[in-house]
Amino acid sequence: MDLKNKVAIVTGASAGLGVDFSRLLIEKGAHVYGFARSSDKLDALQKELGDLFHPVTVDVRDEAGVKQGIEQALEEQGRIDVLVNNAGLGKFGPLDQLSSENWDVQIDTNLTGVFLCSRAVVPAMKAQNADTGFGGHIVNIASVAGLVGNANLTAYNATKFGLRGFSEALMKEVRQDGIKVTCIYPGSIATNFGAVAGTGGAPNPMQSIDIAKTLLHVLETPENYLISEVMMRPLRPRG
Ligand SMILES: NC(=O)c1ccc[n+]([C@@H]2O[C@H](COP(=O)([O-])OP(=O)(O)OC[C@H]3O[C@@H](n4cnc5c(N)ncnc54)[C@H](OP(=O)(O)O)[C@@H]3O)[C@@H](O)[C@H]2O)c1
Repeated sequence: MDLKNKVAIVTGASAGLGVDFSRLLIEKGAHVYGFARSSDKLDALQKELGDLFHPVTVDVRDEAGVKQGIEQALEEQGRIDVLVNNAGLGKFGPLDQLSSENWDVQIDTNLTGVFLCSRAVVPAMKAQNADTGFGGHIVNIASVAGLVGNANLTAYNATKFGLRGFSEALMKEVRQDGIKVTCIYPGSIATNFGAVAGTGGAPNPMQSIDIAKTLLHVLETPENYLISEVMMRPLRPRG
């Protein structure tokens, strides 16, 4: 896809990976609707990235809020070409110390949030396919934790394994509607994720800008060429 003048929704745009996804998409000339809860961070990013960045203060767990944010993008731009389901978090720890609140926040954000955002964009993408022969591209940010289980990650593993299943099922469901679905499985990245999860993370993580460059590559492939899964790791995680 040629990203110039295209319209992308990036969830979790206020920090980490979502900032670099937004930055590179805008460098390519796309409009980016950045979804997150922290309006102060989104506004600061808008000042840095300019008018192509459209801050949308929304919690991806909020069905009505997600619907409203997607409708705003459609009303203002008339189309949605890309959805990057990136908002997510971990809350790590032993199962017998995992609170129901921390179970729920991971399931609700990492899985239900993806469901709500994807369901809200698919009708527009199907209509675009009917008009032009190509619908759009949904990219889900899972994790190596979507492929490999680890001690103290029960809830997080459950969400990211679940996201893998969601992605593969949706990919097969909408490919004939001209909609690409890709699931990405990164290892440790230098963001605030580890602090939220309550872990230090790997000592020698990947940089979010490098994940963002891979995302661009995946999005810019020719229409009849789908990279459905990508896994990436730090070469030397311990340094
Ligand atoms: N960093 C890693 O090592 C790593 C590795 C593999 C996969 N991942 C995945 O990469 C994605 C991005 O994580 P990151 O590393 O960039 O972490 P981060 O720096 O902590 O950023 C997380 C982003 O998600 C947003 N978010 C969280 N809950 C939200 C909600 N309910 N509604 C809307 N936005 C919400 C946050 O914004 P607000 O707080 O402003 O809402 C923030 O913008 C996640 O899905 C994560 O699981 C990360």
